[in-house]
Amino acid sequence: MLDARGAAVPAIVHWGADLGDLPESALTALAEASVPAVPPSSVDVPLRLSILPSLAEGWSGRPALHGHPAGPLQLISAEDQNAGVRVTSSDGSLEVTTDVELAPHGVLRIRHRLANRGTADFDLAGLDVLLPIPENAAELLDFTGLWAHEREPQRAPLRHGVWSRESRHGRPGHDDAFLMMAGEPGFGFRRGRVWAVHLAWSGDKRIWAERSALGPGVLGAGELLAPGEIRLAPGGTYETPWLVAVFSDTGIDGLSDRLHPWIRSRSTLRRPRPVVLNTWEAVYFDQSLPVLTELVEAAAAVGVERFVLDDGWFTGRRDDKRALGDWYVDTSIWPDGLHPLISLVRSRGMDFGLWVEPEMVSPDSALARDHPSWVLSSGLTWRWQQVLDLNDPDAYAYVRDRVTALLNEYPIAFLKWDHNRDLLVASHHQTRALYRLLGELRAAFPDVEIESCASGGARVDLGILDLVDRFWTSDTNDPLDRQRIQRWTSVLIPPEYLGGHLGDGTAHVTGRVSALGFRLATALFGSAGIEWNLTAASDSERAEIAAWIAEYKHLRPLLHTGVVVRADAADPAHELHGVVAQDRSQAVFALVSMGSARAALPPPIRFPGLDPDRLYTVRPLGTPPRVMQDAPPPWMAAGSVTLPGRVLAEVGLPAPLLAPEQALLLNVALA
Ligand code: DGJ
Repeated sequence: MLDARGAAVPAIVHWGADLGDLPESALTALAEASVPAVPPSSVDVPLRLSILPSLAEGWSGRPALHGHPAGPLQLISAEDQNAGVRVTSSDGSLEVTTDVELAPHGVLRIRHRLANRGTADFDLAGLDVLLPIPENAAELLDFTGLWAHEREPQRAPLRHGVWSRESRHGRPGHDDAFLMMAGEPGFGFRRGRVWAVHLAWSGDKRIWAERSALGPGVLGAGELLAPGEIRLAPGGTYETPWLVAVFSDTGIDGLSDRLHPWIRSRSTLRRPRPVVLNTWEAVYFDQSLPVLTELVEAAAAVGVERFVLDDGWFTGRRDDKRALGDWYVDTSIWPDGLHPLISLVRSRGMDFGLWVEPEMVSPDSALARDHPSWVLSSGLTWRWQQVLDLNDPDAYAYVRDRVTALLNEYPIAFLKWDHNRDLLVASHHQTRALYRLLGELRAAFPDVEIESCASGGARVDLGILDLVDRFWTSDTNDPLDRQRIQRWTSVLIPPEYLGGHLGDGTAHVTGRVSALGFRLATALFGSAGIEWNLTAASDSERAEIAAWIAEYKHLRPLLHTGVVVRADAADPAHELHGVVAQDRSQAVFALVSMGSARAALPPPIRFPGLDPDRLYTVRPLGTPPRVMQDAPPPWMAAGSVTLPGRVLAEVGLPAPLLAPEQALLLNVALA
């Protein structure tokens, strides 16, 4: 709630629990009643956090607007808009328009637009969105990570000072803070009040929490601008990315329960997510029609619906050291182009996807040799590649036209759009150009789905999600890593957007050996696929995969529309997560052992999210996991049990003692 009375920039009166439909008189009373005392040794007026906090209003924390010169802002207008309110403030030469939108799902979006109405240039150092958090939001949870190890959660108390996470990767990065949560100490998946913010942006950014001896705490975020990157000439404008903010009084799951329906309501997905086979870990650069023909046949036989040809199809790309930018099919390995392969794929009832990395250029490429000025160089190569300067109109047109030509020549249903290096230079203009490029291609080819991949999950954000349909969640297909990565990535992103592939028994990235059942149960909860040379799988493995795909197709409507739930684990080695239908008529759960259990009799499986007053039957599903017990709990030996949702949530069911790195899938349906 904003207080836009008077001449000052509107104050934020409340961000948190829904206060119900308050009458105008109560809103006014609340605005007046929330004015704080004037503390000693301070400005002589009550300090209220505005939507553009600044020194000029007595806010000595990190301000919203950084730049020189910027005077005190005054309110010009506040108007109701369709989805919220638009506030315009000005210092006489700088004008800031702030859009505040609250979606019915409980998701708040805020962004500023700055216009230089003065007569001199204005150097913008930063323009951020800040929101207040109360004193009980005293514990922070955000993320860090590495390549193939994204979304590693980290918790810390919020003390006096700034906890700021800054990304200078030109993409959010593997260590992206992702979603910054501030909650009641000890908040969990199902407990505690939590305030969370995410910046819908794919370039450099900062996201922070601050509390000071002054009292109020804030969460804030904005683009991380390099000096001189945004110089506004008179008449020039700059728009911040949207800050997406959510509150939950039921823990982290409550955040997802607002974010997922909101993201789904904006979705462009028109059909169920197809089961993918991606060639990367199956053949790497060993591409040829005979090799891939066998893989296509094996994929079709188990029920795959989309065949994706990964890196290695274009001129000269025999390894990852060259040829990015030369986006022509390599006729030395594809003498008839991709037509024979694509015809085969389509004749087997699958559609076809192609890997591209349009923002990049290899120094060893015809493109770099012919157009050295198109390289946006930081000097250093990274994976032996450089970045193509999308702000060069000729470079932009070249890459747009090459992708367009491929999409015109071939029936391509899906592009895996990769981005395998940090920019190492300022990213604002490149990120905006990327958005423009993706937007142009989507307008021209509305039926082509696009996946955002950046060495796995280094570009998973709600900015690019307006322009893509899937994320490659991580380069690791190791199910143990994937359990954690998917659990945390899906706090923000609904699972149907998160690619999860069945990999080889020996994970290519980590070398860890995992049981097929564990790998299948892990890949089930996402946009499922395979990234394994199926021609090397045994007959029994292929039969198990075919059965899994059939089950996935059956469960897909539930998995991709339901409510994601996660239990707060008593034993961190035993985790329970699941998806419950919106009408709570059915659910699928996975009890996952991440390691050895702490107790021989593990804690009961207590099912979150069911309707307490309805009767459900619980049945094991899929490949039975390896267990370490002389006899199973009797309900499992019987094959099923029927109990009310309240009993399943409060008392739960005795759990089997799973061996480490196993998953028990459970189907829950109304009795
Ligand atoms: C990085 C991606 O994350 C992988 O899945 C694969 O597409 C390679 N790039 C190809 O170079």
